[in-house]
Amino acid sequence: MSGGSPLNIALPKGRLGEKVYALFAQAGFECPAILENSRKLIFENEEAGVRYFWVKPSDVAIYVARGAADIGVAGKDILLEYRPDVYELMDLGIGKCSLAVAAPKGFEENPERPLRVATKFSRVARDYYGGMGRDIDIIHLNGSIEIAPILGLSDVIVDIVETGTTLKENNLEVREIIVPISARLIANKSGFKFKRDAIQRLMAGLGGNGK
Ligand code: PRP
Repeated sequence: MSGGSPLNIALPKGRLGEKVYALFAQAGFECPAILENSRKLIFENEEAGVRYFWVKPSDVAIYVARGAADIGVAGKDILLEYRPDVYELMDLGIGKCSLAVAAPKGFEENPERPLRVATKFSRVARDYYGGMGRDIDIIHLNGSIEIAPILGLSDVIVDIVETGTTLKENNLEVREIIVPISARLIANKSGFKFKRDAIQRLMAGLGGNGK
């Protein structure tokens, strides 16, 4: 199988990454060492011609765009926000959630004023409200976005909603769904050319039909 350089795969650290690894292993890209409990971040299986890296989920697209990884798995939310120069090869149908607008229960919008929007997804929010001609004031935060409207820092938030528990426990509710999200297989553009056979073998094993 091997011989040449391995297929370099950036996996998002955490539960989603573990699910992704299980799918890839089933598709023939096993690397059992990755399942051993350790603090190592890089794992290689020379025989299977594969090398995995664990990276922060929001950084996967950076490794892939710059060619440090040939392929990786990133949420559609990250792809919409950062628009990395990569191929989006396949929807893996896991990591499903939504990007949504949420507000405190009973919030009434004042159309005369710019809407104050707290979010990690500034570009998505700008595109969404720009598309409807609504003036907004973006407050860019890096996490715990749900706190912003509670403390009066913003009127609404644009954030990921998965189970809805975080909103519920903070007395917020979904106002509009902006876009459904799921995990996508992405590839570096030249990596895709040079490692096409391996990538297509992986995609076929995942139930896709190649690019
Ligand atoms: C994400 C997201 C929401 C939460 C949604 O946060 O930003 O806060 O998960 O999940 P739920 O609908 O199932 O409650 P994350 O855990 O990534 O932390 P963050 O506060 O750093 O964004």
